[in-house]
Amino acid sequence: KKPKSHILVIFGASGDLTKRKLVPALFDLFRQGLIPENFAVLGASRTRLSDDEFREKAGEFLPADQDAENFKKLLFYESVSPTEQLDYKKLKDRLEDLEKKKNITPNYIFYLSTPPSVYEIIAKNLAEKGLSKSEKYFRRLIVEKPFGTDLKSAQQLNIDLLSFFNENQVYRIDHYLGKESVQNMLVTRFGNGIFEPLWNRNFIERVEVTSAESLGVESRGGYYDHSGALRDMLQNHLLQLVGFVAMEPPVVIEADAIRNEIVKVFQSLRPIKENQVCEFVIRGQYTSSTIKGEKVKGYREEPGVDQNSRTETFVAMKFFIDNWRWGGVPFFIRTGKKLPARVTEVVIHFKQVPHHLFNQVGIPGAENNQLVIRIQPDEGVLLKFRMKTPGAGFQVQTVNMDFHYSDMAEVRLPSAYERLLLDCMQGDATLYSRGDAVEEAWKFVQPILNAWEFNPDIPVFGYPAGTWGPESSDKLINNGQWRYPCKNLSNDGTYCEL
Ligand code: BG6
Repeated sequence: KKPKSHILVIFGASGDLTKRKLVPALFDLFRQGLIPENFAVLGASRTRLSDDEFREKAGEFLPADQDAENFKKLLFYESVSPTEQLDYKKLKDRLEDLEKKKNITPNYIFYLSTPPSVYEIIAKNLAEKGLSKSEKYFRRLIVEKPFGTDLKSAQQLNIDLLSFFNENQVYRIDHYLGKESVQNMLVTRFGNGIFEPLWNRNFIERVEVTSAESLGVESRGGYYDHSGALRDMLQNHLLQLVGFVAMEPPVVIEADAIRNEIVKVFQSLRPIKENQVCEFVIRGQYTSSTIKGEKVKGYREEPGVDQNSRTETFVAMKFFIDNWRWGGVPFFIRTGKKLPARVTEVVIHFKQVPHHLFNQVGIPGAENNQLVIRIQPDEGVLLKFRMKTPGAGFQVQTVNMDFHYSDMAEVRLPSAYERLLLDCMQGDATLYSRGDAVEEAWKFVQPILNAWEFNPDIPVFGYPAGTWGPESSDKLINNGQWRYPCKNLSNDGTYCEL
């Protein structure tokens, strides 16, 4: 259903996110007829641009067709410096002018695609101009991560935003939640009768979440060197995935019902104490190597990165969730840059049969049943189970029952931004992170950050670019190993199932 008429104001609109993600996502919604009848995007940043110049810049990744030309007519621009109080008068006048000319209802979404250092001042300036709250119309604020750089700054950010907006007006983007197959996890678990009875400590031996990237830090060395994989990926995206895997069934599919369950998972994470960090967390950094005959730079040689940097580009962790469902089940999560493939997946390793009657071909004993939820690419679900090898005797082999979204005719997976923008336009915050969950996730990672910062003896393991991270990350798992989706493949970054 089409959202109500409104204006979407993008702060920091001259930046990369607008042209790469936001505008293409809005265009996709436009083509599907999901943009409201009376609607405008108002770009707002410091750079001086005319409407036409903005249309050209922001439309760089749109196709050269008539649809795109029609869509671009919905884009407008006003030069606004986030910190300049006087500029907000200009912004307000421009909004009123657009409302009149285009017959738009004064509902607003403010999208902050700016450095987090100016989030508070923008919220404050909007509030001072009476733009943050209204009895009659909606006012929503979308913020991009990072939501703080540690627990203290995350708490402060929540205080700052909530001084001017209510929690139910704030939409914190975690683009992983916009991915189709992450949402499908809820359906897999709670839309089928067969999985949920097994989804607990009685039947599951361990859970594994991997988010591997084949790219390095590219042009973001300056940012990344102050962040690292723990802050950049694990604290947010990976823990949100864990939230979806581990949560109890919500009462209804509604924002607060789901988000209440996710917070409970985060509250049940068993803290990793500073003196346990070496035992439970492995960090690594990619070093130079040769991939397919080509020399590849190490992290420390990347532009914007300190030559002696100890920032991790890989992190693997073992932890427990102390509640009735998961008591004693280890969770293993890892993420890294410059790994052999781009793949994100959740693997549920079921327990072995209690008594082995058969020999598995090539494997002494037996292999666990696994349910693999592929988040990206090649989104889908895979169940590995044992079958008899035809012929004499009782030889057993593992086979795959495999579903790929790509096999469904005429299915187009919406991009995460497309889905999330539409949800916000419709006032649905289910797939956005709530402030308390963000703080709980920081609480969990804070002792690790402290240990790394204050204990120089904790190693940063090097791993050659194009490999699956430091070997010591394998040792986290006692009885078994990570699932290596492309272990035997050459490093071409494409996903494959073995
Ligand atoms: C971002 C991180 O949030 O997620 C990046 O800042 C990372 O470092 C990206 O590359 C990964 O997203 P995706 O959707 O490509 O898996």
